[in-house]
Amino acid sequence: MTEQANRGLEGVVVGETRTSLVDGAAGRLSYGGYCIEDLAAHASFEEIVYLLWHNRLPDVAELEALRHDIASNARLPETLLAQLRSFPLDADPMAVLESALAALSFHDADAADNSLEAARRKAIRLTGQITTLCAAWIRLRQGDDPIAPRNDLSLAGNFLYMLRGEEPDETATAALNVYLVLLAEHGMNASTFTARVVTATESDIHSAVVAAISALKGPAHGGANSAAMNMFIEIGEPCRVADWFRDEVLDKRRRIMGIGHRVYKAPDPRARVLKQHARALAASSGNSKWFDIAEKLELAARANEFFIQRRLFPNVDYYSAILLYTIDLDVDMFTPLFVMSRIAGWSAHIFEQKRNNRLIRPKANYVGPLDLEWKPVTERPVQSTG
Ligand code: COA
Repeated sequence: MTEQANRGLEGVVVGETRTSLVDGAAGRLSYGGYCIEDLAAHASFEEIVYLLWHNRLPDVAELEALRHDIASNARLPETLLAQLRSFPLDADPMAVLESALAALSFHDADAADNSLEAARRKAIRLTGQITTLCAAWIRLRQGDDPIAPRNDLSLAGNFLYMLRGEEPDETATAALNVYLVLLAEHGMNASTFTARVVTATESDIHSAVVAAISALKGPAHGGANSAAMNMFIEIGEPCRVADWFRDEVLDKRRRIMGIGHRVYKAPDPRARVLKQHARALAASSGNSKWFDIAEKLELAARANEFFIQRRLFPNVDYYSAILLYTIDLDVDMFTPLFVMSRIAGWSAHIFEQKRNNRLIRPKANYVGPLDLEWKPVTERPVQSTG
């Protein structure tokens, strides 16, 4: 007897985690027991990494040791930089990350060791190297040489330093830090599940992270932040929002990118915090146009019966698009920036999976024919004329 298939696995519990609680009905998120609003207000990204990887907050020495470890392991091997220079300048930056991360596994000091302890050391290196890769690719494709990371900066500060070679601006560093904190972890989302599935086969952390990046790339997941910004750019001016909403969303049934969520049926708490930061950053940059477009579109959607009935609210990608655009990042770099943060959550789940592993192998209902008669190829009916 066949069982009812659950194509999107909604509500299916596939494991236990101490990383985060995502309560979609209440619109609540906490990492390791701390509510996301408190963490966004007070924590550095490195504190979040420690919390997710150790299930507790670090003391002063532990935090400084982790920050230093990440920063001092963030350099890219020269051979990898040479490889990056050979990539087409218009390559999708997510494909660049996928390729570069697979290549980084050749150079890793623990390449042959697939233990939990080695995975922890590799995760420290990957966290720093992904940041360096994002900055290096931005510079290479604009014709500039990459800048090596510094040992004395936070991850957010180092990224901004490696972009421009200047002392990072405090406001931009703080905004980027909040972004990294908010996106670091989110339960059993598609890319995290992918990382767990790969880890469960006893494959290595580089492979699990490459697979997770591939899952994150899609516009229904992490690709939504750049899709949202492209939509705001298409709208162009705050005064065009009402017409665009009527023509594109109500008439043509286009989806508003950055709105809606599989789990949140109440406002996404991350979007609330990001909205405040995006507003403040836009005001301090002297250009609130993009924020105004996003807010007007949000208000149009929230006043509309279709969105109200389906409980569709801005998700994390909606206002993060404005924040990243305001710190002057190219739209196609938004999803790689998501990777820079989510490596923390993916790694935490990879460690959990390794500690209590079981091959993940669901099943499908077979709906094809049975008992067909085999015929040699020359005796089969001709199917095509080509
Ligand atoms: N704009 C307009 N309508 C939307 C919508 C959006 N962004 N998101 C969902 N809907 C509508 C669907 O058309 C559907 O309507 P119906 O009931 O008339 O068929 C209903 O809401 C449910 O959508 P569904 O696709 O079944 O929900 P889901 O849980 O599978 O999808 C997302 C969740 C995230 C994939 C979906 O909301 C979406 O595509 N959002 C835009 C992309 C995005 O921001 N992704 C990042 C997620 S963090």
